[in-house]
Amino acid sequence: MHQKRIAVLTSGGDCSGMNATVRAVVRAALEAGVEVIGIQKGYHGLIDRHYEVLGTRSVSNTLQRGGTFLQSARCPQMMEEPGQRLAAENLKGLGVEGLIAIGGDGSLRGAMALQRFGIPVIGVPASIDNDIPFTDMSLGVDTALNNIIHAVDCLKDTASSHDRTFVVETMGRNCGYLAVMASIASGGEYALIPEAPYDLDEICKALRRRYEEGRSNSIIMVAEGAGQAQEIADTIKDSIGFETRVMILGHYQRGGSPSAFDRLLGARFGVAAVEALLAGDGGKMVGLSYASIKLTPLEEVIKVGSKPIDNMILKLACTLGN
Ligand code: ADP
Ligand code: F6P
Repeated sequence: MHQKRIAVLTSGGDCSGMNATVRAVVRAALEAGVEVIGIQKGYHGLIDRHYEVLGTRSVSNTLQRGGTFLQSARCPQMMEEPGQRLAAENLKGLGVEGLIAIGGDGSLRGAMALQRFGIPVIGVPASIDNDIPFTDMSLGVDTALNNIIHAVDCLKDTASSHDRTFVVETMGRNCGYLAVMASIASGGEYALIPEAPYDLDEICKALRRRYEEGRSNSIIMVAEGAGQAQEIADTIKDSIGFETRVMILGHYQRGGSPSAFDRLLGARFGVAAVEALLAGDGGKMVGLSYASIKLTPLEEVIKVGSKPIDNMILKLACTLGN
């Protein structure tokens, strides 16, 4: 008898928790008697047919590792119809009856394209930006936040020893979630984000007032899309004479052993994705809603595009930053 087969891939920016999800997919599928093909390097592997059969041992010792052992990539060919058609044909040629695509908003668009070419796909939201709608948290966000607050804790030690202001740049080209949440969690003074206008002159005046009150060091978080960290630091220095230093956290944020939260989220997303595929529920994304896992049509996820930042979080940051 023909054995059912599904495939799994990781695409776009990698993040911690992708391995935990692939492991959960493999183990849940094998438990249901379904074979799993791991596609390498995201949609590139689909187009170029780079894949491996994943057994239960293939995912041993991966849970605690950041990044993705299947590797990830950006694949321009997948943006065009011929690439999408070829990817779908290759999957059909492999006898694959469904795909689980783990990635950010771009990867979910790729997933939707394959669904339109007749491949049932379940998307798993994975991006440290936490900008994917219909899920409270995406994979990798919690680990990235923990990475950032670890770095800021270290910087605060040296900042307070030298009466310095540190400008710390987080990732987030269009989304300030990481900068704001990390600022709240690490006791930062300001978070500058792309979603909200800010007045650097006013910030300088407030820093001066703080200094006069005896608070002589500060942390200014800046999301990468909200301004140039070095320019901001230079402005603060020129305006009020503070010694400033810059820390660009860059890709450090994306790596590292996943937090307990991301391991558990990956486990739940992976199993739910397999269950949805096997129930014939293609064309959906798994998401976390309060404490539950729910499915949302990929079409709706893509229509909404980017999740706006929650005003409650901004208010909390303003209250606690003063
Ligand atoms: P992320 O998934 O982290 O948001 P990208 O936006 O770079 O990262 O997308 C990852 C990959 O997903 C792209 O390189 C491309 O292969 C695919 N992709 C992105 N947008 C689309 C789209 N509109 N249609 C089809 N595939 C897409
Ligand atoms: O989308 C996730 C993300 O980490 C963004 O925050 C960041 O701007 C981008 O990816 C960096 O992409 P790359 O890995 O291509 O440098």
